[in-house]
Amino acid sequence: MAEVKAFKIVDNVYWVGAKDWSRRLFDSLIPLPKGTSYNAYLVIGSEKVALIDTVNPGFEKTLEDRIREVVDPREIDYVIMNHAEPDHAGAIPYILNVALKAKLVTTSMGSKMARIFYGVPAERVHVVKDGDVIPLGSKTLRFIEAPMLHWPETMFTFLEEDGILFSCDFFGSHLAEGMFDDEVEDILIHAQRYWAEIMMPFRSSALRALEKVSKLDVKIIAPSHGPIYRNPKKILAKYLEWAQGKTKEKVLIIYTSMWGYTEKVVRLIESELIKQGVHTAVHNLAYADVGEVAKDLADSKALILATPTVIGFAHPLTMQVTYLAKLLKPPTKYASLIVLYAWGTNADRQLSDALKELGAEILDVIKINVTPTEDDIKKVKELVNKVLQKIKE
Ligand code: FEO
Repeated sequence: MAEVKAFKIVDNVYWVGAKDWSRRLFDSLIPLPKGTSYNAYLVIGSEKVALIDTVNPGFEKTLEDRIREVVDPREIDYVIMNHAEPDHAGAIPYILNVALKAKLVTTSMGSKMARIFYGVPAERVHVVKDGDVIPLGSKTLRFIEAPMLHWPETMFTFLEEDGILFSCDFFGSHLAEGMFDDEVEDILIHAQRYWAEIMMPFRSSALRALEKVSKLDVKIIAPSHGPIYRNPKKILAKYLEWAQGKTKEKVLIIYTSMWGYTEKVVRLIESELIKQGVHTAVHNLAYADVGEVAKDLADSKALILATPTVIGFAHPLTMQVTYLAKLLKPPTKYASLIVLYAWGTNADRQLSDALKELGAEILDVIKINVTPTEDDIKKVKELVNKVLQKIKE
């Protein structure tokens, strides 16, 4: 018997996924302080049965056991693949081997990925396009193409009679805890972190998808990671804000320090900002959780990057976070740069070029020779004032 039973969401709709409490890293990059979940759902119509998404490799038997608590897997008619990434589709070969009559339902791009990733033959695939419907008897599944959220094949499945949107990664959060949103006090913080790590680079695709979602009567959002939203209003509003690139009057300081000199300058900036009552977030890259850095990039209007010089260039951790920020495409409006050096540096040029790629307006680049002089301190304070003025505009 499985350790957690299939969980009924509404009549004839069950959660049959897996909780991965111990997982601590995603994509060999993103820390998962609270594990994650791979949500799969079983929809039982009066005539047909559908499984929506599967689970991460290693959890195939858990999925099968949970399905068996509700139906014999041989009764599954459709396996819906909203997304081909292995954390949701990795158990497809296993499940198609058990659910022998089932067809895999996916987009045209998804059918190619099902073949490449999982060796699913064309005769077992049913390709759907935007607006297509599959009737299950008493329940109806409608498919909504939502490409580039965050792969090209991604789609949503909408269960019309119950108003449930199965959105796969969209609206997800890396949390093993909680079946429903109202059971997790800080759900929106986890959702923001997930948004920033996975969806932020695709803001225009997100806006297009949200427009489609706004036309549906959504009562429940059932993503493939984290809790199910039985109160979807707040997360829908947040997603709209994030997709529109709305930022707060918030300054994000990201820095590296080798001997404490950069740290000293950062403390000066931080205390000036706090004195002015500005929402400030600070990350020391030697210890930072990149998920938290990404979360703060999602809503900070200004970024201040401070780095020491290593062999003539920026510290490798600074370069790493700059590259990450470039990939994540945050809505940062203003950026400033502080470079510390002992006898020479190219880091200012190197990082200015990198910051330009963020699309942010560069307010200031300050170079400090080890210990800030009176003049340097004056420049730093001027920078803070400039940042303050800009974020309040
Ligand atoms: Fe959770 Fe893109 O997979």
